Amino acid sequence: MARTNFKKHIVCIGAGYVGGPTMAMIAARCPEYAVIVVDINPERIAAWQTDCLPIYEPGLLELVRESLGRNLFFSTDINANIHKADIIFVSVNTPTKTYGEGAGKAADLQYWEKTARTILQVSDSNKIIIEKSTLPVRTAHAMERILNANEKGLHFEVLSNPEFLAEGSAVADLEKPDRVLIGSRETESGLKARAEIVDIYAHWVAPERILTSNLWSAELSKLVANAFLAQRISSINSISALCEKTEASVREVALAIGTDSRIGSKFLNASVGFGGSCFKKDILNLVYICEHYGLHEVARYWESVVMMNDYQQQRFVTNMIKVMFNTVADKRIVLLGFAFKANTSDTRESPSIFVARKLLGEHARLVISDPQALDNARIDLQDCTQRIEFSEDPYAAAHKAHAIAIMTEWDIYRDLDYERIFNHMEKPAFIFDGRNILDHEKLFNIGFNVFSIGKPPLKHF
Ligand code: UDX
Ligand code: ADP
Repeated sequence: MARTNFKKHIVCIGAGYVGGPTMAMIAARCPEYAVIVVDINPERIAAWQTDCLPIYEPGLLELVRESLGRNLFFSTDINANIHKADIIFVSVNTPTKTYGEGAGKAADLQYWEKTARTILQVSDSNKIIIEKSTLPVRTAHAMERILNANEKGLHFEVLSNPEFLAEGSAVADLEKPDRVLIGSRETESGLKARAEIVDIYAHWVAPERILTSNLWSAELSKLVANAFLAQRISSINSISALCEKTEASVREVALAIGTDSRIGSKFLNASVGFGGSCFKKDILNLVYICEHYGLHEVARYWESVVMMNDYQQQRFVTNMIKVMFNTVADKRIVLLGFAFKANTSDTRESPSIFVARKLLGEHARLVISDPQALDNARIDLQDCTQRIEFSEDPYAAAHKAHAIAIMTEWDIYRDLDYERIFNHMEKPAFIFDGRNILDHEKLFNIGFNVFSIGKPPLKHF
């Protein structure tokens, strides 16, 4: 029989890429807590309770199954669950604003604020409210003001516990995080709430990896972590352009600089550009905050990371068109991969979207292949699907194609039979390796004209 006497009720508002996996891990490691994930989207809530989860993430299904129905629950009854919650994680989306003041840069806080107002409306006991979504610095302050301006005499302690998991490795990142960060007010009630959240993570995370800070530091650290990671990619991508013009190879340069322990070897893979729901959004958010405080030089510095990423995507597609004799009209071009990175079905801000739209604008015939992201690709390109073929099979996709572009570093693309693919392509056959995952010499010897990131091209003409 299902247990009913739980130590505490944890509720997470928002059953997305962050809320779902994080709560599944907390439920699995803390069986004495009830963990209830709520969302306004009934299909999402239903899907979390099937074998076909709403997001693809290695190891996630097994993790969810461990606790589903035991102490992990999914529900659309937001109000009733908020009402009985002791601790509420808020993990709703905070997209970049598309309208009004700060459009294109600031975060759109309407979902967050609606959530705060619902919490206020349905609560009749004190609660700990935790920001999990990435939010602009000092949002907690605004939330405190909304929540604590109540006439019910309730106290809501607002904390920030930003999530650092990366998609595709979410379960492993949650299981063994580099660190967990918990920010709170340094008042008596703030420190008490902070200790409660530390207790939850201490079920499986070593104490030295649980960092605590003030609220503002926790909020800002999330933006800065993403800005620093993205900056490394933009830095190496800027060098890739120079390598393509010289005899240097960006892979060799990355290895040479990455072995300097002060620099480190991670996040130095030159690529067609970074995507994902976080990097661009968080940097633009940082830029907006800097501008707000009159720090224009600081704003320009971080903005250039995004500009370099736009340049890299533009450069990739411009080069495709140029080397294919300045026209791709009516040519069959295959995009291998549509997800913004491997091991996820997520396509948000994927460079594939930009490249696909540019090629369609040049009247190419596109074939899009991806092992997990085709449903999202169809949605992203829904205004032009009549000019696109979607195929899970890379061999069928490449049949009679003029060119192939590797857009996502899925393992399956490393080991395809490229000789077989070459034999069925139009000639001259082009391959554009936007992730530098293939053996370029081997492809050249098969007969391909090979264009990679950060290496001079290998061509037969
Ligand atoms: C990122 C942060 O890593 C994570 O800590 C934060 O919580 C959310 O944002 P995510 O966007 O899921 O995670 O993926 P990440 O692995 O950081 O990759 C982001 C993009 O950068 C992808 O498009 C990836 O392909 C690209 N990338 C990454 C490169 O182009 N080169 C690299 O060396 C590394
Ligand atoms: P993230 O990558 O940050 O997890 P997602 O977009 O994957 O973002 O998930 C956010 C979830 O929050 C979505 O499933 C959305 O339906 C849900 N959501 C947005 N607003 C509310 C709200 N007011 N109440 C409950 N859920 C909400």
